[in-house]
Amino acid sequence: MKILAIETSCDDTGVAILDIKGAKTPVFSVLSNVIASQIEVHKQYGGVYPFAAKREHEKNLAPALKTALSRAKVSLKDIDLIAVTNGPGLEPCLWVGVNFAKDLAKKWNVPLVPVNHIESHILVNYLENKKINFPAVALVVSGGHTQLILVKKIGSYEILGETRDDAAGECFDKAAKILGLGYPGGPIISQHAKKADRNPTSIQLPRPMMHTKDYDFSFSGLKTAVLYAWEKEKKENNEFFVVRQKTHQMQIAFAAEIQQAIIDVLLKKTIKATKDYKAKTIILGGGVSANAELRRQFKKAVSKIYEAPCTHDRSDEVSSKKIKLLFPPANLSTDNAVMTAITAYFHRNKKLVKSDLTKLKANANSRISK
Ligand code: KG4
Ligand code: ZN
Repeated sequence: MKILAIETSCDDTGVAILDIKGAKTPVFSVLSNVIASQIEVHKQYGGVYPFAAKREHEKNLAPALKTALSRAKVSLKDIDLIAVTNGPGLEPCLWVGVNFAKDLAKKWNVPLVPVNHIESHILVNYLENKKINFPAVALVVSGGHTQLILVKKIGSYEILGETRDDAAGECFDKAAKILGLGYPGGPIISQHAKKADRNPTSIQLPRPMMHTKDYDFSFSGLKTAVLYAWEKEKKENNEFFVVRQKTHQMQIAFAAEIQQAIIDVLLKKTIKATKDYKAKTIILGGGVSANAELRRQFKKAVSKIYEAPCTHDRSDEVSSKKIKLLFPPANLSTDNAVMTAITAYFHRNKKLVKSDLTKLKANANSRISK
């Protein structure tokens, strides 16, 4: 079957076409994966400006669909199912995708499946024939969300914990803005952190909620701590901010410590949940899971938890005797429509047709579980 998927929950306009074969074990082939990035538009705001994002989605969707169809060498007549993200996300952005998908479904008389964005960040891990052993613990870390989710099976989830304020990606973005590094912060901080000395830096930032007994997070205090530490450094160490090269060195030192503070907290809580719930798989998803250092430290931690680790050649899959770590290719960690299509495949029995379509709404605050 062929699925056409549309994803407009935040600032990337995604259209993808997948071919799915196999009855019991689906094999997903990506025929096309088009992403129209809006980074240049949002750079000036240092974050996503929802109404500019909405305008860009409106502008980008039709050309992205045209490109996706031509790259996949299919026409709309060949599509069996349309998938669309209907939440959570930025409400004006979600509506653009939902309305576009509804119009297509009506015009071409194709059933439509609404998809939860968080679930799609988890289920994208089914690409490349990977297997998820249940129960699994999923850490979904993006610009809008930071959630630890118990995955009992596909479609059965329990949110164990989540951020009480800013999301981890938001913290990367805001911290990068404070340091004058630009947007989006995650990739830029990660690039700067790579250049840092291996020795611990003099900058010490807090690890909020790292030792609490729950599975919740809080990143807004970390962002404030970055602001104060950066201002203090400016005051006390004037030389750093006069000589350009020295400023750069200071940005590198801060980037490394910010990244490590975020990784420390995410890792600690995920491992705690994994042990407490005797999870057999750890799943990483969302934009922050593209972070190379985070992936490296998760791999190391997983192979340490249980004895006799066996590391496969594939760089994105590590497992020990009892536990497996999965994360998608970096370009599918950030928002894309491939994940929307995969999720719709698993929920194809929830398809909407004809009169049901009018009832479909965008829901900015929808949750993966009650
Ligand atoms: O999942 P995503 O594309 O969009 C949302 O659903 O929010 O995540 C975007 C977030 C941004 O905050 C961005 O800074 C962060 O993911 N991000 C990263 C990296 N690449 C993207 N954070 C850390 N390291 C990265 N390499
Ligand atoms: Zn996302």
